[in-house]
Amino acid sequence: MSHYPALRLRRTRASAWSRRLYAEHVLTPADLIWPLFVTEGDVEEPIASLPGVSRWSIAGVVERAREAASLGIPCVALFPNTPARLRSDDGREAFNPDNLMCRAIRAIKDAVPNVGVLTDVALDPYTSHGHDGLVDAAGYVLNDATADVLVRQAIVQAAAGADIVAPSDMMDGRVGLIRTGLEGEGHANVQIMSYAAKYASGFYGPFRDAVGSRGLLKGDKKTYQMDPANAEEALREVALDLAEGADSVMVKPGLPYLDIVAAVKAEFGVPVFAYQVSGEYAMIEAAAAVGAGDRDTLVLETLLAFKRAGASGMLTYHAPLAARLLAA
Ligand code: PBG
Repeated sequence: MSHYPALRLRRTRASAWSRRLYAEHVLTPADLIWPLFVTEGDVEEPIASLPGVSRWSIAGVVERAREAASLGIPCVALFPNTPARLRSDDGREAFNPDNLMCRAIRAIKDAVPNVGVLTDVALDPYTSHGHDGLVDAAGYVLNDATADVLVRQAIVQAAAGADIVAPSDMMDGRVGLIRTGLEGEGHANVQIMSYAAKYASGFYGPFRDAVGSRGLLKGDKKTYQMDPANAEEALREVALDLAEGADSVMVKPGLPYLDIVAAVKAEFGVPVFAYQVSGEYAMIEAAAAVGAGDRDTLVLETLLAFKRAGASGMLTYHAPLAARLLAA
């Protein structure tokens, strides 16, 4: 009788209980951050390029936050669709303490205080040119002048009740300035999750539809977002943001950049989050719609992949679906 092979790795895969026992990584609803789009008025507006995702009224996002709580999702991320008349070259609506964003933050924290609120710090939903910062006459996004505005934006968000401010603008030095600004205004416990390694990606299209900046954007964001060719540079970005006081860092987009998630985790051993962005969501939905894959399987598999790569959690528009599947 043959004893070959001595070790059969299929042995532990042979039954469901054993697969569960040997699983190296688990996905739970506590890993999820649910991005929500808020808009003015008593409406729900479906987003065509993001099937199944809508812009909600303030009351609507409050309802979604309640849903998050009941599903065990710890945190929601808020993005505003600023009315066109309030968008300007200098994006000043971003630091209006009564802007849509701040009203939504207050409404959520009043109604569902136990759900964390993460806010995006960047000017693109507020500028008439769709860039994340202030631009000069040549269209170049100005670093230091933008950073000053971002500090004001982060402070009004924190004052409204934001638990985590997440600068997604990629200006140099802004994390340190925001940290100092928050401390100076008495917001010592407001966290900063920096979009440290954010790439100039083709996967953001549906998001720009959702916040109404796609048609406005002049040019591209390659002078501030990272070149997809670069990995070492991502580690330098992370090192700077940590030195400036970031509590956690983000890699964005998600799936095409799993190598970056893993490298950041290995190099720094800090909480790393991945943003499975709008174009990734749309890609999964498109695959499911033509029968190229089963939606539920694709969603859980991709989210687990982030955990395997070392992510502490993920921002994903599939958060409520994933949480329901995990509860079932
Ligand atoms: C903007 C911002 C973007 C996203 C999050 N914050 C878009 C961009 O940089 O153009 C994209 C998220 C997504 O695609 O889901 N500061």
